[in-house]
Amino acid sequence: MITPSPRDRFALARYVVCALLLATAPAKAEDKIDPETERKAFQAFFFAKFPKVAKEEFGNGPYAVNESMRKQWKEMMEFPPYEFALDEGHAEWDKPFANGRRYADCFDNKGQGVRQTYPRFIAATGQVETLEGAINRCRVENGEKPLDPMTGLMASLAAVMSESSQGKPFAIVIPDDPRALAAYERGEEFFYSRKGQLGVSCASCHMSPAGERMRGDILAPALGIMAAMPIYRSDWGSMGTSIRRLSTCSFMTRAQPLKADDEDYRDLEYFLSYMSNGIPIVGPGTRP
Ligand code: HEC
Repeated sequence: MITPSPRDRFALARYVVCALLLATAPAKAEDKIDPETERKAFQAFFFAKFPKVAKEEFGNGPYAVNESMRKQWKEMMEFPPYEFALDEGHAEWDKPFANGRRYADCFDNKGQGVRQTYPRFIAATGQVETLEGAINRCRVENGEKPLDPMTGLMASLAAVMSESSQGKPFAIVIPDDPRALAAYERGEEFFYSRKGQLGVSCASCHMSPAGERMRGDILAPALGIMAAMPIYRSDWGSMGTSIRRLSTCSFMTRAQPLKADDEDYRDLEYFLSYMSNGIPIVGPGTRP
């Protein structure tokens, strides 16, 4: 399990100081506005802020909004650092479980080109399920042990599923079920509320200040922020899934880190992914 190292915490504490100087988050959209109206306003905010960035590009995060980082990225992509994960992921994906069944048997369309529909609301549990959650459920239902949802083999499998969805726009569904809407609203609340001692929210860093430099980083716009997952990050030196990225950022906004499969994180990812409906999947990705 990955928890932020003291060094990460120190670096991030400095981000927070910058954020407090930089950030004035846009006023939160009025409560109880319907998700589709909110999505349109959310996207319009970023299209107006970055008029030169094409819709298809938002999933490239910092590289979409900063020219010099884009150049470095193009060079890095000659030998993409996530290639090893794709190789490992394809080998694992094709290997049958001990009972003879396969990952492909657990997913719609054999798992091909479906990543853009995750996270999903599952009526039977009344909860949101992420892609990694679905992969682990598939394993457990077939008698295998669950994987660490943050990195390693799980990231490699997520990379394979993302690769087969490249170019397909996020298509997150909020079914007509009050529990699904409630999950979305809890995710929205998580994104905008300033809870921790530092008084910053996700929005404080990824809305208005998107594209600005925070120490060595360019802040990714919240629009399309899940589209490149899983990612290889040089400062991790390894691959990380959506939840690894969300949890490393979220400890800045919460006093206590949550468990990787905590419902709060799943709801947050549901909200963020829904906001990106229409933005194509570009993962797996790479970050400095
Ligand atoms: C104090 C500022 C700050 C806060 C608060 C913050 N982040 Fe971040 N976040 C960053 C920085 C810096 C990075 C690394 C640069 C980048 O990719 O934006 C980052 C990266 C990310 C990424 C990866 C983006 C990419 O394209 O690789 C995601 C996803 C993310 N943050 C989500 C969140 C969420 C969700 C929250 C709230 C729980 C949050 N962040 C809170 C500063 C912040």
